[in-house]
Amino acid sequence: MSTDPLVLFTPSGKRGRFPVGTPVLTAARQLGVDLDSVCGGRGICSKCQVSPGYGTFSKHGITVAENALSPWNAVEQRYKDKRGMLDGRRLGCQATVQGDVVIDVPPESQVHKQVVRKRAEARQIVLDPSTKLYYVEVAEPDMHDPTGDMERLRDALQEQWGLEKVVADLHILHEMQPVLRKGQWKVTVAIHLGDQENPPRIMHIWPGYHEGHVYGLAVDLGSTTIAAHLCDLSTGEVLASSGVMNPQIRFGEDLMSRVSYSMMNPGGAAEMTRAVRAGMRALFAQICEEAGVDRQLVVDAVFVCNPVMHHLFLGIDPYELGQAPFALATNSALRLRADDVELNIHPSARVYVLPCIAGHVGADAAAVALSEAPEKSEDLVLVVDVGTNAEILLGNREKVLACSSPTGPAFEGAQISSGQRAAPGAIERVEIDPVTKVPRFRVIGCDLWSDEGGFAEATAATGITGICGSGIIEMVAEMRLNGIVDAAGLIGGPDQTGTDLCFADGRTFSYLVHDSTQSGGPRITVTNRDIREIQMAKAALYSGARLLMDKFGVDTVDRIVLAGAFGAHISPKHAMILGMIPDAPLDKVTSAGNAAGTGARIALLNTGARAEIEATVKAIHKVETAIEPRFQEHFVNASAMPNAVDPFPILKSIVTLPAVIFNTGGGDGGGRRRRRG
Ligand code: FES
Repeated sequence: MSTDPLVLFTPSGKRGRFPVGTPVLTAARQLGVDLDSVCGGRGICSKCQVSPGYGTFSKHGITVAENALSPWNAVEQRYKDKRGMLDGRRLGCQATVQGDVVIDVPPESQVHKQVVRKRAEARQIVLDPSTKLYYVEVAEPDMHDPTGDMERLRDALQEQWGLEKVVADLHILHEMQPVLRKGQWKVTVAIHLGDQENPPRIMHIWPGYHEGHVYGLAVDLGSTTIAAHLCDLSTGEVLASSGVMNPQIRFGEDLMSRVSYSMMNPGGAAEMTRAVRAGMRALFAQICEEAGVDRQLVVDAVFVCNPVMHHLFLGIDPYELGQAPFALATNSALRLRADDVELNIHPSARVYVLPCIAGHVGADAAAVALSEAPEKSEDLVLVVDVGTNAEILLGNREKVLACSSPTGPAFEGAQISSGQRAAPGAIERVEIDPVTKVPRFRVIGCDLWSDEGGFAEATAATGITGICGSGIIEMVAEMRLNGIVDAAGLIGGPDQTGTDLCFADGRTFSYLVHDSTQSGGPRITVTNRDIREIQMAKAALYSGARLLMDKFGVDTVDRIVLAGAFGAHISPKHAMILGMIPDAPLDKVTSAGNAAGTGARIALLNTGARAEIEATVKAIHKVETAIEPRFQEHFVNASAMPNAVDPFPILKSIVTLPAVIFNTGGGDGGGRRRRRG
């Protein structure tokens, strides 16, 4: 048996025996322990810091003597004097093994460290960035052995780092020769490590040892807004997040109007491509300035978007997406150059676009799948990304199904008489008194309820301007809960509901929420037409989910995840009263925030996740709602609140929905087909 000293690394638990004198960094490498190094063990970068433990480790059966590592050396002292180093730390490339030892690798010395996420997420992000810095010492040119500087740099990268077939774009050749000489043949290079389509590529070159960072962008390109996170690729940290309106709005609010703009106007698609790219460049310039980051150091960018935005961003006419069978130009992931899509970041920066799932289910849904990982879920999870189109995923370890459903813009407050985007002054929470039927509410920008002291003063600046998307859901659900609206979606008159807040409004009734006309503000009401818009939107969402449940062969789901900024504000109870989502225990309905943006960030920080999502997307079963006969049937049933046929037993154990019927023309008001307004 070998009597060489035993070296145990924590937290990995990897262990092995090494001859006396082996540097800790070498032992780590041989065992595949994740210990960073930029200088390759030359005592320059300090990335290899470790914490040796001394004494008895009974759990591991190891006793570590004081002299288990070689004595503190001059290189370590010099580094500590110049840059500081925590007491007890050693440089892994300087300390050598002398006896049995236990060595902890602190998180900052790990390349593949875990990135902190804000909530208990479905998937942990382990840093595995596309681009890393390497310090190399390059052979000097020699008259007797004439080779180019680039070739010697490439050889050095292969010998010192095992990086094979490294390439460089022309701009690197422009600057390489003076940099090599200035650094006396010692340089630091940032290398994009490549992928299945591209070899490793030099992105930057600095003379000598360069202590620096490179950056990446995770971009969620939505139809309404473009949001980006600027991340440090060596720490995973988000340095700045920012968003702008998508400049394509001027060509049409929703996606289909943009597709028809391109159909009706020659050159229209190209015009929209120019607009979105210009918007993106402005956003990138702003976000880099905000974080104080040089745009030339942004070497990687990941994009998620719906299919129409995907095509318009890439400069592909979305014509085919406007008609059956909704063929995408490509549904595969794309690996491009920033220059190909006219971005103002590093000229050789790589761009990764997540794969699309289907003609109506885009790379944004793929990003949601990456963030929420339904394919890894033990229980059956329904993931709903609510926007103008709802993207829906249903699955577990066994299989994952996906569809998209045209909810329209009602959930964003559009096409609602008093509707508005979520902004200060918009009603976002509502409670209706069961006896008086008087509503109390809260508006964005104020924590007080409308019947609390100080509310008028606190909202004086913003006013009470309308109802936002999550507010309208609560409003309609509260109206249903308190017998102001019936299951079929009709608002009752004052005699039927017992409140004058319900008033005749043409051939139907409306409900008065707030009147601020005396102070010059609007009169906020909910009309029967508003209720119909919400019924239509929620029926589309529910029928999509129900259709996937049919395909899965189930009548219930174990849990529901609401994704999207809007999903973060929806009250699960109210959504269920409307019958917007399937019946489920309320504590099993959670919000994932901007899951598409999180998915983009995962793909940016962990290159391994890219292959993973490509495989997941391939395995997802796509369901096209437009051609499924049962979709229409589900839609009709789901127009009732909560539903004409599905029983919602869990909801009914929590609330009692009044059995009111306001259709004076008779009928049971339940399973009846909803009148179209
Ligand atoms: S590896 Fe760079 S200082 Fe040790």
